[in-house]
Amino acid sequence: MLDRLNKRPNDLSAFWMPFTANRQFKETPRMLVAAKDMHFTAEDGRKIMDGTAGLWCVNAGHCRPKITEAIQQQAAELDYAPAFQMGHPIAFEFANRLAAMAPEGMDHVFFTNSGSESVDTALKIALAYHRVKGDGSRFRLIGRERGYHGVNFGGISVGGIVANRKMFGTLLTGVDHMPHTHDIKRNAFSRGQPEHGAEYADELERIVTLHDPSTIAAVIVEPVAGSTGVLVPPKGYLEKLRAICDKHGILLIFDEVITGFGRLGKPFAVDYFGVTPDIVLTAKGVTNGVVPMGAVFVKKEIYEAFMNGPEHMIEFFHGYTYSGNPVAAAAGLGTLDTYEEEGLLTRGGELAQYWEDSLHALKDLPHVIDVRNCGLVGAIELEPIAGSPTKRAFSAFLKAFDENLLIRTTGDIIALSPPLIISKAEIDRIFETLGGILKKLD
Ligand SMILES: Cc1ncc(COP(=O)(O)O)c(C=O)c1O
Repeated sequence: MLDRLNKRPNDLSAFWMPFTANRQFKETPRMLVAAKDMHFTAEDGRKIMDGTAGLWCVNAGHCRPKITEAIQQQAAELDYAPAFQMGHPIAFEFANRLAAMAPEGMDHVFFTNSGSESVDTALKIALAYHRVKGDGSRFRLIGRERGYHGVNFGGISVGGIVANRKMFGTLLTGVDHMPHTHDIKRNAFSRGQPEHGAEYADELERIVTLHDPSTIAAVIVEPVAGSTGVLVPPKGYLEKLRAICDKHGILLIFDEVITGFGRLGKPFAVDYFGVTPDIVLTAKGVTNGVVPMGAVFVKKEIYEAFMNGPEHMIEFFHGYTYSGNPVAAAAGLGTLDTYEEEGLLTRGGELAQYWEDSLHALKDLPHVIDVRNCGLVGAIELEPIAGSPTKRAFSAFLKAFDENLLIRTTGDIIALSPPLIISKAEIDRIFETLGGILKKLD
């Protein structure tokens, strides 16, 4: 069976690959056929160190036994059961476990199947919340330039990555964007939160004034923007957003698809920054990336606002065929067990200083214009080749793969986010390999 699954077929054309240069990839494929703990195995047998936890999701490392066993058992016992007007115990158990570890006051969980679905679910909850409270004139959603909130229509509307938006028509109406906080002139080579830029949050006050606060439902941000190249919030910035939202009755949504489940050395970015939004949305690390799932956490007041009207009526017309899927919930429980037994939700904090020092040791290498970090996330920004943006970083990506290291690039930024089980020796290996590559890069 495995032989069949992991052998490269002769024809790669049928699979239209996501976020991939299909023609280039199919010319020179890079195939991964197995994984264990910190490493993938490539098709040619090489062990590739995972410097990115897959796509920021495999926080506990690969093929962890508790997760594998939980999935196997659940698939054999109750493979699927509907969650509309029906229930199965494991979804409730998983929701309870999540609520118990969630930021204080986040007592209720809505299940989705991905980060993109969690984003759109959170936006819909925010809009509907105001409406059930009799405040239906709040229809506007505010995102941020360079924000990444997945690829569904809500997410690309509030998101601020031009390439992800420009092909897709008018998107949602009633959306505005705050400026991003990337200020390389003032903040280059910051360790942790940059000193400058809290005032970027004042733009929210300007936008709110422009549209009138009574029209604004919610503000959504990634506490640390990941996919756009690791933008760490300036000191005081998130606090200001919270204060402005409070002042005007606007819901604050944190997209913790990347930062959730230990990435910053605390369970959630909420715990790390000490700023609590009204809705926290997650995916990825909720099941260690193994079975697709997302979870949206809301405050009690939000859930209770919906629990109105006749009891036989559905309170919120939203949900997915696979919301709370039993196999996904089993993967999630196996994941939480693994995180808890191995202390992984705080392990990033123990390694953060070593990680930061090792990363910043690359600051004087050729083409490096910024290095930044937070928890177990790091980024190295390179000067783009004139006239060929993205090429320099992509060439680093290809060279790293040749040298048995998986990194991720976005634009000319190298982003790193290893599984939280990484050892100091493995951190050394990542930066020795990258340092060697950067020294030779054109
Ligand atoms: C902050 C953030 N939100 C949403 C998403 C979308 O998640 P998915 O790809 O699971 O839909 C991502 C994915 O990288 C993300 O980083």
